[in-house]
Order: sequence, then C-alpha cells, then structure tokens
Amino acid sequence: MHFPSARRLLALALGSIALAVAVGGCSKSPDAPPAGGAAPKAGAVKIGFYVKQPEEPWFQLEWKFADQAARDLGFTLIKTGGNDGEKLLAAIDNYAASGAQGFIVCTPDTRLGPAIVAKAKAANLKLIAVDDQFLGPDGQPMKNVHYLGISARKIGEEVGRTLAAEMKKRGFDPAVTAVCAVTYDELATAKERTDGAIATLTAAGIPANRIFKAPVRTTDIPGALDATNILLTQQPGVKHWLVCGSNDNLVLGAVRALEGRGFAPESCVAVGINGTDCIVELEKAKPTSFFGSMLLQPKAHGYQTAQMMYKWIKDGVEPPLDTRTVGILITRENFRQVLKEQGVRE
Ligand code: GLA
Repeated sequence: MHFPSARRLLALALGSIALAVAVGGCSKSPDAPPAGGAAPKAGAVKIGFYVKQPEEPWFQLEWKFADQAARDLGFTLIKTGGNDGEKLLAAIDNYAASGAQGFIVCTPDTRLGPAIVAKAKAANLKLIAVDDQFLGPDGQPMKNVHYLGISARKIGEEVGRTLAAEMKKRGFDPAVTAVCAVTYDELATAKERTDGAIATLTAAGIPANRIFKAPVRTTDIPGALDATNILLTQQPGVKHWLVCGSNDNLVLGAVRALEGRGFAPESCVAVGINGTDCIVELEKAKPTSFFGSMLLQPKAHGYQTAQMMYKWIKDGVEPPLDTRTVGILITRENFRQVLKEQGVRE
C-alpha cells in the first residue's frame, strides 16, 4: 500500500480531472463509446474491473466470478490491477479508449474517490465501487457513488464472539491472555472490522488494557508480521493471544509472528476475514493458531457487481446505491463443505 502525501494526492487528483476533461472534450474516434448513454449494440458491452491487490486470492476470485458473468451475459471484461493510484487513473483512460461503457473498482486509495468520479463522468463511464468505499474531500463516505461492500462491523463482531468463545472453551487464564488486533485504520472497512471485534471482546469481559493494536504499514503478510513482532516484544508476559485483523493476510502475518516466538499452536487463537486467502492454512495437516475465518462472498462481489453494471449499461437499470454482504464462519471442521456450498471451490 502506498501512502502518497496529501500534496501528491491533490496533484494527482487535479491532474487527472484536467486530463479527464481534456479527453472528454476530444473529437470522437470511430471506436469512441456511444454518446449520451445510448444503448450499445448487443455483444458490444465492455466493462473494466480494477482491483488494488491482484496478488490476493480474494481479488483473483472477484475477477474469476466477473469472468463468469461476462461469459454468461456475453460482454467483454477488461481486468486491471495494482496498488497504485496513478495506475488506476491510467486504467480508466484505457477503459474509455477501449470503448468500455463502465467499470467496477476496488481503489488502492479511497481518498482518490473524487478524482475517479470526475474521470468516469468526463469519459461517460458508469462506475461501481466494490469492497472499499470512496471518501469525499471531507473524509466522509461518498454515498452517491454506487457501492457493494461487506457489513464490516457485524462481521468483525462475529470474529470477536468466536475468539471469546474459544478463550472460554480452552480455559485460558485471563491474567495472561490478551488481544492482538492487527489494524489498518486508514481504510474505513478495515477499521470497522477490527473495531467490531474489539467491541465484542470488551463486552465479553476483556479489559481495555489487555487489548493491543498492531497497526500495519503495508496490508500484506510481511506488514502484519512486522507489526505483530513489535507488539510481542513490548508484551513479553502474555501467554495466550487472541488475534483479529482486517483480513486473512493480516491475521496470517500475526500467526507467523507467534510461531516465530515459539507459541504453541493451541495456546493462541486467530480468526481471519475473507475465508479465501487462508485455504492453504486450513489445509495444513497440523493445525496452527489460525482457528478459522469469516468467509465473505466473492461471488457477490465479482459476479453480482458485473451483472449490475451490465444491466445498467444494457437496460438502463440502475443498481442500488449501497449493497452489503455477510460472512459465514469457516474452521478446519467445515471449510471444505462451506467453500463448496458457497461456490468458491469445486
Ligand atoms: C478490502 C480488503 C480485502 C477484502 C475486501 C472485502 O478490500 O482489503 O482483502 O477483505 O475488503 O470487501
């Protein structure tokens, strides 16, 4: 994850608006998308799908399901990815130049929201934000931009309930038990998840001074490993860690850090979110501290967003402004069955 300075972001945003206006004002090439939103010819629908971290199984699954929608409905899908705002802005130009009529995006930086909207408008591209909701200049969610994301707070609360129940079941001594929340508070959906988990753990009786945050600098396994190692060094007296985080990779990084410090697998409990990026972990012959994950719905995020976009372009059916999806707990006991039922795996 890049952290552009406020000034650089502004320059990026202004530059892209200027560029978008310039592109929008150009005379039409023969390939240009139909003006005024006129319905395209059958088979001529083209939809872009941009994801911020294409290396994550979560985003690969979104693409896989969007591809399925493209086959079922008969449109062309253009997939682009990268954790870089400039790459996203260039991709939007490319969607427009290729004659696409709309795109779905999980942006590398939610503060690029206004620049993305301006570019989409200038190029007459319909827009749906997936996963990460855009923020306006006031730092508030842009509720007028169509969005499909998770019920982050509720899903986080379920993580907290699962951790509290396991602590009880295993009879951990509260005096030497603590919570490690691997956080990325710069992203609203990530913050809501860990805030939800912390709230239920607090309600379950864990005192606030036994709850520790390990904030990541990069949203990947190495970033979480580093953040957790710092916390473990600061809190050498803890014998049992209850781990939550904003997604599977952040929780997996914490699990690797615990292993590195010699914690026995059964002495700690970790619960992820996504359910798609921890399958290898759950398949390991020997259990690790990774107890389970809240499986989200990559099919809804990939297929349904693509279908919404297609119907919007083709039939003028505007999707709902805000759609939220739910999660289901998977553990070593049920993950094969649930992944199959949810269509994530054969
Ligand atoms: C964010 C996270 C992803 C995934 C999605 C789900 O984008 O970075 O790993 O959890 O939310 O909406």
